[in-house]
Amino acid sequence: MTHNERFLDYQTEINAALDAAIPHSECLYSKVFDSMRYSLNAGGKRLRPLFVLEFSKMFGVFREDAMPFAVALEMIHTYSLIHDDLPCMDDDDLRRGKPTNHKKFGEATAVLAGDALLNRAFEHILTHSKFSSDITLDALKCLSEASGADGMIGGQIIDMEGEERALDIDEIKALQNLKTGALFKASVLIGCILGKASEEMSEKAEKFAEKLGLAFQIKDDLLNVEGSAELMGKDVGNDERSGKSTFVKLLGIDECKKMVVSLTEEAISSVRELPGSDFVVWLANELISREN
Ligand code: IPE
Ligand code: IPE
Ligand code: MG
Ligand code: MG
Repeated sequence: MTHNERFLDYQTEINAALDAAIPHSECLYSKVFDSMRYSLNAGGKRLRPLFVLEFSKMFGVFREDAMPFAVALEMIHTYSLIHDDLPCMDDDDLRRGKPTNHKKFGEATAVLAGDALLNRAFEHILTHSKFSSDITLDALKCLSEASGADGMIGGQIIDMEGEERALDIDEIKALQNLKTGALFKASVLIGCILGKASEEMSEKAEKFAEKLGLAFQIKDDLLNVEGSAELMGKDVGNDERSGKSTFVKLLGIDECKKMVVSLTEEAISSVRELPGSDFVVWLANELISREN
């Protein structure tokens, strides 16, 4: 199987698991499930669940055993996107090639569907984990910290503040590390936790995720300037319109392109010694030239 076939195979399996995780419902409040399923099943690259599966595989975990954790990561990521698109945040109309959740279902339902996905993520792990209580709790702690105020949410707070005042380079770095890096890190670390990886291996995996997360977010900001809404499946040009503080705004396009390459190289060098890391090395390189 080529690396690209493996990538597609992961996406197919993750999509099937996500579809099964929240079945269609006919209940009185079925609207919330429709809204959750609408965003969750709309596609997306599925990178975070893939990292859970791939890093746990490096340490001997079967894919089916890691899948509940992978599903949880994608539920939380999708919730963060639904809320990120709301009028009170980035106010976007297009996501994953479709109208944003609030455009389709209204703001109240979008807020509630996001909240429900967050809760469902933890419920899903608690219901389906086949690991010991200790391992499951470690993974839950890692996930809740990464999603919370000291993680993704903290990053979103700085991101919004960055519309009001120009952030400096260290502040933007902190913002990106939290907003995007935190869930990237949680994905690989949960893989390490499930596979009982050594501290040394876990640190290498964490550094990989930190560097790659930064490269990924800078690339996202570049695509917001240079990319096409059609390929990205989301709005472009809105960072500048809303006056967001980004690396692109501060350092310019050419410098940012160099940073994406050098951060990806750093990420790769950190992960080379991990067992069977050739697939994530390939993936990291692919992300440099991604168009969506
Ligand atoms: C978008 O994440 C938000 C960022 C952190 C840049 P992705 O680019 O992973 O979005 P999907 O999941 O593929 O839609
Ligand atoms: C979204 O960041 C990251 C989170 C939801 C945590 P952005 O606002 O930069 O990403 P896009 O461009 O809307 O996907
Ligand atoms: Mg945002
Ligand atoms: Mg946004």
